[in-house]
Amino acid sequence: MVKPIIAANWKMHKTISEAVAFAKQLKEGFPEPCQTDIVIAPPFTALRPVMDVLKDTHIHLSAQNMHWEEQGAFTGEISSSMIVDAGCTFVIIGHSERRTLFGETGAMVNRKISAALKSGITPIFCLGESLQERESGTTFKVIQKQLKEGLNNIISDDIRRIVFAYEPVWAIGTGKTATPLQAQEVHRFIRETIATDCEHVYAPETVIMYGGSVNPDNTRSLMNQPDINGALIGGASLDYSSFAEIIRLAEKEGE
Ligand code: PGA
Repeated sequence: MVKPIIAANWKMHKTISEAVAFAKQLKEGFPEPCQTDIVIAPPFTALRPVMDVLKDTHIHLSAQNMHWEEQGAFTGEISSSMIVDAGCTFVIIGHSERRTLFGETGAMVNRKISAALKSGITPIFCLGESLQERESGTTFKVIQKQLKEGLNNIISDDIRRIVFAYEPVWAIGTGKTATPLQAQEVHRFIRETIATDCEHVYAPETVIMYGGSVNPDNTRSLMNQPDINGALIGGASLDYSSFAEIIRLAEKEGE
């Protein structure tokens, strides 16, 4: 049985004090390890203060991005060892906002995934098609290309340490969720592709999360699909009660 992950991607939201207040609520609300892993991805500025609240708990900390080089003249960038130093055990890589707004290519995503693995941190590798790609019937081709580029030269034993997140771009922040069957179809495809193209023997136990307008109303129907192992949540993770509700619903699904 794959242990699902419920992750909050706060994007460019929350001051340090807001992030710390949320982390305290989460720590009190979920004092014991759950049937799902909980991950919080605050902005860089709040990583360390949130870590100070969450240390010695079962709740994991994630960065939202990183650079592939260890150090050097890369103004404005943060390396994997820096986010590890701040307490992160996860990092989101290849989010569609990074790809479309900041020109991140498949090759860059690949370098970041490799660097994260080298630092012992778990990459949350985001994949997803645009509306135009879905409407023109190229969804699977796009996903296959993103997988091929992102996993280039990464060996099966390392792929085992990667978490995948299918996030159709047209569903992110739009209120339009993929239907559970639309999502399931792509999740199955991702699992099959990593099993065949990457000869990844651990594909059945790979965590593949869904992201894109997840909220308390659609959590259960998404999470009860066989190949959906958790959720990466943007908008609905900013409010503590809605994020906590999603965790509780995901827990029930696992019962
Ligand atoms: P959303 O964002 O839940 O606001 O659609 C998801 C994401 O971008 O990870």
